[in-house]
Amino acid sequence: MKTVILTNYSPNVLRAILSLKVVEKEIPGPGENEVLVKLHAAAVNPSDIAFIQGGYNIVKTLPATPGFEGSGTVVDAAGNLKNLIGRKISCFVQYVEGGTWSEYFTVHKNDIILLDDKMDMDQAACFTVNPFTAYGLTDIALARQSRALVQNAGGGQVPAFIRMLAKENGMEVINIVRKPETAGKLLAEGHQYVLMEQDEAFEEKLKTLARDLDATTAFDAVGGAVSGVIFNALPADSELVVYGGLSGKPMSGINTMDVIFKDKIISGFNLLGWKDELDEGGFLSIAGELQQKFISGELKTTIRGTARFDDIVKGLKNYISNMSAGKILIKP
Ligand SMILES: NC(=O)c1ccc[n+]([C@@H]2O[C@H](COP(=O)([O-])OP(=O)(O)OC[C@H]3O[C@@H](n4cnc5c(N)ncnc54)[C@H](OP(=O)(O)O)[C@@H]3O)[C@@H](O)[C@H]2O)c1
Repeated sequence: MKTVILTNYSPNVLRAILSLKVVEKEIPGPGENEVLVKLHAAAVNPSDIAFIQGGYNIVKTLPATPGFEGSGTVVDAAGNLKNLIGRKISCFVQYVEGGTWSEYFTVHKNDIILLDDKMDMDQAACFTVNPFTAYGLTDIALARQSRALVQNAGGGQVPAFIRMLAKENGMEVINIVRKPETAGKLLAEGHQYVLMEQDEAFEEKLKTLARDLDATTAFDAVGGAVSGVIFNALPADSELVVYGGLSGKPMSGINTMDVIFKDKIISGFNLLGWKDELDEGGFLSIAGELQQKFISGELKTTIRGTARFDDIVKGLKNYISNMSAGKILIKP
């Protein structure tokens, strides 16, 4: 089979991308409680970029196949799972061994979602991570009974899903973006509250909007100095939930007095931790609900193109040059 391998971690993202190679390997056999999947498409997410830079939670011994998410068909399985052969699946593979940027890969039965035949397989390639992350985050805002929320990286796919789920639940969303074209796109789509991080009056505008809309939950995918700006702009009794570190910088500028006297808190969210806290029935029910929304077209990932394995360097360069334009799928 053909598989993509990373040969060198590098904080310099271009160097990391250039170290990707396509090689031939033996097709792996499924271990206990595992299925073997023939890849349809794999997503490229910010976590994959952080991984190849050596800056993610998972570090593999190199050379190793990257890719944490994908869709495909089960073509072989451990004894007790043979009934899954032929089923279409979407999966989240965060192991030290193996990855989805491969013609075939193995995955544990608990990390696959069985798909309805009506599910589009390109959409399925981006199904197991972002929609569930948005669902879990929106649930936090709902549990806090926030009337509005603040989010940065507003042009990304998780923030897009959050907007859709917030609307369904009657919550206003204040979006923060870093590029004028992304702001223009969101405004043209009819989103009322869009702020530019670089705007001179950004802090004041955010503070006023957060107060007027009573935005008591914020989702931070960026870190760095903007975390402090958002935290300080929130009203008393607010929570800043950090779920990404796109800036690669430590969070800074948090107003200490706000933590002490205004009951404001900072927390972290990660998908696997959230999933572990759900009972099995709870996860299956959310997966069923989200899958129906994809089939009906209510939820959709913006996919802007496909890169074949042999074009992976070009595909990843495209993705990082304009992440708000949508996902690039990797296909054999
Ligand atoms: N904790 C979890 O369990 C979990 C799960 C899923 C995703 N995530 C995180 O969620 C975030 C969004 O993921 P996604 O798939 O939605 O991303 P995406 O669709 O690939 O888009 C990324 C977005 O972030 C913006 N961005 C990138 N670097 C930035 C920076 N330094 N400052 C401000 N904005 C920046 C991009 O804007 P430009 O177009 O201007 O580049 C783009 O709008 C990522 O941090 C990801 O790691 C976390």
